Amino acid sequence: MSVKNVLETERLTLREMTIEDLPALSDILQDEQTMYAYEGAMSDAETQEWLERQLWRYKEDGFGLWAVVLKETGKMMGQCGLSWQNADGKRVLEIGYLLNRAYWHKGYAAEAAEGCKLYAFEALNADEVYSIIRDTNTASMNIAIRMGMTIRGRFVKHYRGVDMPHVIFSVRKNERGGVGFSQSELSEAHRALLSTLHKCEKMDVEKLGKSQRTLLERRIAALKVSLALIEKEQGRIPK
Ligand SMILES: CC(C)(COP(=O)(O)OP(=O)(O)OC[C@H]1O[C@@H](n2cnc3c(N)ncnc32)[C@H](O)[C@@H]1OP(=O)(O)O)[C@@H](O)C(=O)NCCC(=O)NCCS
Repeated sequence: MSVKNVLETERLTLREMTIEDLPALSDILQDEQTMYAYEGAMSDAETQEWLERQLWRYKEDGFGLWAVVLKETGKMMGQCGLSWQNADGKRVLEIGYLLNRAYWHKGYAAEAAEGCKLYAFEALNADEVYSIIRDTNTASMNIAIRMGMTIRGRFVKHYRGVDMPHVIFSVRKNERGGVGFSQSELSEAHRALLSTLHKCEKMDVEKLGKSQRTLLERRIAALKVSLALIEKEQGRIPK
């Protein structure tokens, strides 16, 4: 069966799941500890239904929760992806993640989630992506924070007969932590700042008073910081 790869990060490939992933999926969804935020493990029928929902989402929406595969071994060790969810009555695009417990604490969830965030902004042209997280799920909230997300609200979800307070996190494309700006916008801003910096550096400081000189020095320093941040965003210097 041919599989559809969706995106790659440094250590991971995210691809569409197939029916053959059911055993790897069961290892995750039928593990009590992994499923603590969902009020317990899933049954065989619930796991099958979960997989079918993702296959339906791929067809219907063009995305869903994808298999997270470790490049090094080719094994599926989790799921991460995008889906439409309800956040206190609003339909939002959510990044979700669930990993097999054997692979926790290695930064894989954060890496996969960041890849999905970029995919949402770049490939799907989304303006905002969310994560809706149970208020007891510290690990998941830390991943949302890692993605540059901010808390936007709270609401109570009713699932499996339990009232579960949830926190609504999101990040917008053009804010810190989002994708930010297009490469051409960055280049344009870089050019303008660089030319201003050159002009400032050419000024004759001897002719300036003490306070004007301090102001000029501060401006030069600020321009250098801005240039370095743009270069970081452009990938010219390591983040
Ligand atoms: C949430 C989950 C995917 C995190 O997976 P992970 O691989 O351990 O996450 P990462 O290694 O990428 O961790 C990134 C950061 O999250 C935080 N984090 C991870 N596990 C944590 C924990 N148990 N407690 C507190 N913070 C934690 C840390 O800040 C960590 O960075 P650090 O290791 O540099 O300190 C995993 O715990 C899981 O699958 N849980 C069950 C499913 C679930 O709850 N999904 C989210 C539903 S909203």
